[in-house]
Formats: sequence, C-alpha cells, structure tokens
Amino acid sequence: MDNVCAVIMAAGDGTRMKSSYPKVLCDVLFKPMITWVTDHVADAGIRDACVVVREKEDRIAPLLPRGFITATQSADKNKGYGTGYAVMMAADFIKNGGFSDVVVLSGDAPFTGAQDILEAFEKHKSDGNDVTVLTSMLKDPAGYGRIVRDGEGVAAIVEQADADEDTKLIGEINSGTYWFKAAFLLDALGNITSDNTKGEYYLTDTVAYAVETGRKAGACVVSPDVVLGANDRKGLSELNRLALDKVLDRLMADGVNIPFPDGIVIGADVEIGPDTTILPGTVIRGRTVIGAGCEIGPNSYLDNAAIGDGCRVISSYVDSSTLENGVKIGPMSNIRPGCHIKPGVKIGDFVEIKNSTVGDGTAVAHLTYVGDADVGKNCNFGCGVVTSNYDGSKKYRTVIGDDVFIGGNTNLVAPVKLGNRVYSAAGTTVTDDVPDGALVIGRARQTVKEGWAERTGKYPKKT
Ligand code: UD1
Ligand code: CA
Repeated sequence: MDNVCAVIMAAGDGTRMKSSYPKVLCDVLFKPMITWVTDHVADAGIRDACVVVREKEDRIAPLLPRGFITATQSADKNKGYGTGYAVMMAADFIKNGGFSDVVVLSGDAPFTGAQDILEAFEKHKSDGNDVTVLTSMLKDPAGYGRIVRDGEGVAAIVEQADADEDTKLIGEINSGTYWFKAAFLLDALGNITSDNTKGEYYLTDTVAYAVETGRKAGACVVSPDVVLGANDRKGLSELNRLALDKVLDRLMADGVNIPFPDGIVIGADVEIGPDTTILPGTVIRGRTVIGAGCEIGPNSYLDNAAIGDGCRVISSYVDSSTLENGVKIGPMSNIRPGCHIKPGVKIGDFVEIKNSTVGDGTAVAHLTYVGDADVGKNCNFGCGVVTSNYDGSKKYRTVIGDDVFIGGNTNLVAPVKLGNRVYSAAGTTVTDDVPDGALVIGRARQTVKEGWAERTGKYPKKT
C-alpha cells in the first residue's frame, strides 16, 4: 500500500462513557479500541498514519505502532469541534506526505478490519471516486449518520440529530470509515462549516460538498458486525460480547474444547491448540499461546503466558511466564512474571513462584515461595519452603542443583547455593552454601523436660 495513508480520529471527549480517560482507550477484550484500529491499519499494509488526539493526552502515543504519528486537536471546543475539525488537524501530515489517497477511520469502531479497508480501497479506485464511504444496513440504525442515496452514488450523510422523520427511516448507515482522494479531502476540509444542530464540523459534510462540486461520492457496503462502534458503556459491553463470540467460534473451529462457554473470557490475540479444554471462570489475555491437550481452569487467569502441550492449570494465575510440556499447576497457585517452568514440573496449592527457573520433573507441592531462584531437575520441595530473597533493599538469587530434597519449613536465605543431591532437614534455615551430596541441618536441638506439666502445677488444670 504505497502512496496512501491513514488518519484515525481519536480526540473525541467520550462524554457518554463517563470516564476519566478518552473513549478510544476503553478496552474491548482487554485491548484498547484504538489498538484494534491501528492493528487493522498496519495489517492492511498502511505504513503512514496520523492519529488525532486531544491536547495534553499523552496516553495514546505510547500504544501506537512504529511510524504512526499523532496530531493534536485543541481541548477548547470554541476553537472547533467534530470529526471534520479532527481531520483538519492532520491536513499538514496529508499535504506533506504527498499521498494520493487517505483512509479516515474512527478510533471507536474496532471491528473494521484490514480486509474491509482493502476491499473498500479497491472499489474506491475502480469506481474512480473522490470519496468512498463504508456503509452498512442496520436493523436499528439509531445514532448513526444515515446514507442518502442518489442511484448508485451517495448524495449526503445526515446525522441523527439533523435527520427528519423520513431520513431516520433509512437503514443504511455511515460506518465512520472513508477513503478520500487526498486532494479532494484537503479541498473539502477548507469548505465545510459548523452550521448544524451540534455546531460541529462534520466530516460527513464532505460528501454533500463532493456532490455540489461535481465530484464522485460512492459507497462500499460492508457487513453490519464490522461497523459497530461504542459511544457508552452499554455499547462497549455489546462490542465485548461480539468480539468474544468471534474468538470462541474461531477457537472451537480450531478444535479447542469449550464445553461451557459462559464465564470464559479470551482475548483476540490468544492462540490455543486442539483438544485443549477451557473450563468456566477462566480469563486468558495478552499474547498467550497454549499448546494441545491441556486443561485450563476452572477459575484460572493467564496473561502473556506460553503454555506447552498437556499442561493443567487449575484455579491458578500465570503471568508473563513459560510452562513447558506436561506441567501441572494448582489449585490456588500464582506464577508471577519471569518464570520458566520445565517439562513435567508439578506445582501444587498455595505456591508462589516469581522470576525463577524450575528444572524438569521438580515438585513444589504446597505452601511455598520460590522467588529469584534457579532450581535444578527432579528436586522435591517439602511443605512451607521459603526463599528469603529480599533483605529490605536488594533482591538475591537462590541456586539449587539437581535431585535436591528440601525438607518442610526450610528457609533459604539468599544469596545461597545448594549443590546436587543436597538434603535439608525440616525446619532448617540455610544461610551458607551447601556442597554436593551433603545433609544440612540448621535448627536448635530439641530438649525434652520430662514431667514438666505436673511439676510446674500447670496440670491438672485448676477450675
Ligand atoms: C460519527 C459520524 C456518523 C457515523 C458514526 C459511526 C460524524 C459527524 N458522524 O458519529 O455519521 O455513523 O460516527 O460510528 O462524523 N472525534 C475527534 N474529534 C472530535 C470529535 C470526534 O477526534 O472533535 C473522534 C472520536 O474520538 C471518535 C470519532 O471521531 O473516535 C467519531 O466521533 P463520535 O463523536 O463518536 O461520532 P458519532 O456521533 O459516533
Ligand atoms: Ca461514535
């Protein structure tokens, strides 16, 4: 896609969302709407894009793909407001880039995909249009701009607030995405006015301007589910529902077993292998990839996780970590960022692991904290083992060899290193390195005082 660019309008105030952040940052399936749009633009092969953001809004720029720039629209509504005014802010970007055509998109319509953008571009070119509006037929067109037709072409777009009763009956609506010839767009932006019910510059008025000046305005009709936008929280929850249904349909078509889809939320960028079962109460997000033949859930939370084949994650969290094949986690454990859990590891209940490697076949069965540790193969952790990795100011590593047996309630005070085949006695506090094959005992020796209860008069109890 050479010689074309995109302008994405993202400076609306989103008053109907009642949010402290702009509408385009509202998530659909854990991904801000603006990111859905920029992903589609990039997927369409468009490398030059300008996102129009509100003055002092610095939360959008960091989310943009490389090469996408921002232009600023004043927060002062008296200076100008509306979609037409937003695109005016990108006029220099369009002019200076020497582009032939421009696609303008709304930051609050996440489902207009790369395919729709490209299909509309084909039609825009082959019909020789100056402007091509992506439209759709909706059963309930309320709230959208209506498409007034003139034969095959488009005569005008009339906003809901400006529409008479007859116009409101029109079912064909403006999706908010348009292809323009760059030269026509720049000319039209200089000629639209804010003379309407809302006193805003409407980008949609460029269509009537095209007709008035003998240019060609056309439409590319796309399916209803790609045009939907969200103006309020209810609209947002509908978009979430729609996006989720699509994700679940795709996964099930790929052989993922989702027997009870209620109460399962899976993000759009998640990949899951066949014969993996996802059980209710499970949320999977980010760039999580799960292999084949796993069982995830019930009640699990995976974010940016890489999970191999044949794993089980029961009522547990995995965040930004890798689980190799045949790993079992849970119930009730927490794998925090930076973990690499090797094949066949078993992590039981109430175990927290952070920024650690755990070697093949090791078992960490109950009530244990492993932080900043490198653990070898085939080790066994007793109940209640703790790596004391933090001295209040710095973090230190614990290194454990292969075939190590760590007794219950062992305290590993880092930095500390245990060799291969080390045994630690239950209740030991390990403060110094232990060589291969050694037993380490570090606890007070037990003393037994016989007859103590009777002698001291504590028993039998006085009433
Ligand atoms: C707009 C269209 C309408 C269309 C609908 C599709 C106009 C006048 N109307 O209405 O025909 O059916 O989208 O969803 O264009 N924005 C700015 N700056 C502004 C105002 C808005 O950047 O001053 C951005 C918003 O962030 C949003 C987009 O433009 O991403 C659309 O604005 P919005 O207010 O949602 O327009 P709609 O009323 O939905
Ligand atoms: Ca909108």
